[in-house]
Amino acid sequence: MNDRFLRACRGEPTDVTPVWFMRQAGRYQPEYRRLRARYRLLELARDPALCAEVTCGAVESLGVDAAILFSDIMVPLEPMGVAFDIREGTGPVVSAPIRRAADVERLRPLEPERHLRFVGEAIHRCRERLAVPLIGFAGGPFTLASYLVEGGPSRDYAATKRWMWTDPEGFQLLLERLSEAVAAFLAYQIREGAAAVQIFDSWVGALAPEDYAERVLPHLRRLVQAVRPLGAPIIYFGVGTATLLPWIRTLGVDVIGLDWRIPLGTARAQLGDQQAVQGNLDPAAVLAPWPVVAAKADAILAANGGRPGHIFNLGHGVLPETDPAILRRLVDWVHARPVGEGGRGAHG
Ligand code: CP3
Repeated sequence: MNDRFLRACRGEPTDVTPVWFMRQAGRYQPEYRRLRARYRLLELARDPALCAEVTCGAVESLGVDAAILFSDIMVPLEPMGVAFDIREGTGPVVSAPIRRAADVERLRPLEPERHLRFVGEAIHRCRERLAVPLIGFAGGPFTLASYLVEGGPSRDYAATKRWMWTDPEGFQLLLERLSEAVAAFLAYQIREGAAAVQIFDSWVGALAPEDYAERVLPHLRRLVQAVRPLGAPIIYFGVGTATLLPWIRTLGVDVIGLDWRIPLGTARAQLGDQQAVQGNLDPAAVLAPWPVVAAKADAILAANGGRPGHIFNLGHGVLPETDPAILRRLVDWVHARPVGEGGRGAHG
């Protein structure tokens, strides 16, 4: 078993920097597009054999150090009573948005061992086939709430924020219910064999730091406290979170995901070396000519300066227009760099 990724999660030294990519299974792959021509995304996620094929196929063609279970952050919401569709080019669209406490009261508690057995089964199948650790995941409570309240993707999260400020109790109840479901779901994935879990709080960067700290962080704290005892490393990731890092640091997760808008050295200087970092190449940078990609990867490795606890990744998911061969070359490039190449203490 290649344990580079797990060692880096725990801040232990590794031979080379571990690397994987968010959305490493997806439309940029011809084999994924072929499967998607026959099955809907949720059909792939709900069929353990197909899910394992998509999850493991990506690992094998890229040579990455970790697998991420193929699914979607919306999957656990369906058994809670939320009807939605995932539309190509748009994302999740919820049929009846949730905007009042009464809507929250109608949500059913999630029982993963009853409702999401297909996830456990897919985890077992992946584990049989994989030589790298499998990452389980769930959406962060605010990010899930944003889809439920807006009814789909949003630019400004106006309905979500309006509710958060005008009916704080109702909105807090929604975050509470979602956090409980997410905690149960992550714990279930760990029990079934996920070696680490990532909380995708993709859209929290839309919040002012004070609102994040007052209205979202307490739920995340309880979530992390509930999952911690299971012993699997926890990764917390959001987009545009540079100004939230002082708060995220206090969550006590093992790994903090960084997008590309903050230099890794700057984040490291703020976070200290107690927690590992993951990232942070601009997902669009892999569309550039190879020398540009290689230079940007080297700059990130140099910014980390050889400190243990760095997992190389993109700052967000792989874009559909990405050339799979460039990603593969990037993995090999990172693996060919001895840790510490950039020189210790190079902040930048
Ligand atoms: O390889 C992996 O990373 C695992 C698979 C994965 C998917 N969704 C599959 C998927 C993961 C980890 C997710 C999480 C997810 N889903 C997030 C958090 C991560 C992030 O990107 O910030 C969010 C916000 C969603 C909601 C969602 N689902 C969006 C915004 C989209 C994109 C819509 C589009 O067409 O561009 C989806 C659809 C989706 N989920 C795809 C994939 C591979 C797109 C391809 C398809 O429709 O087959």
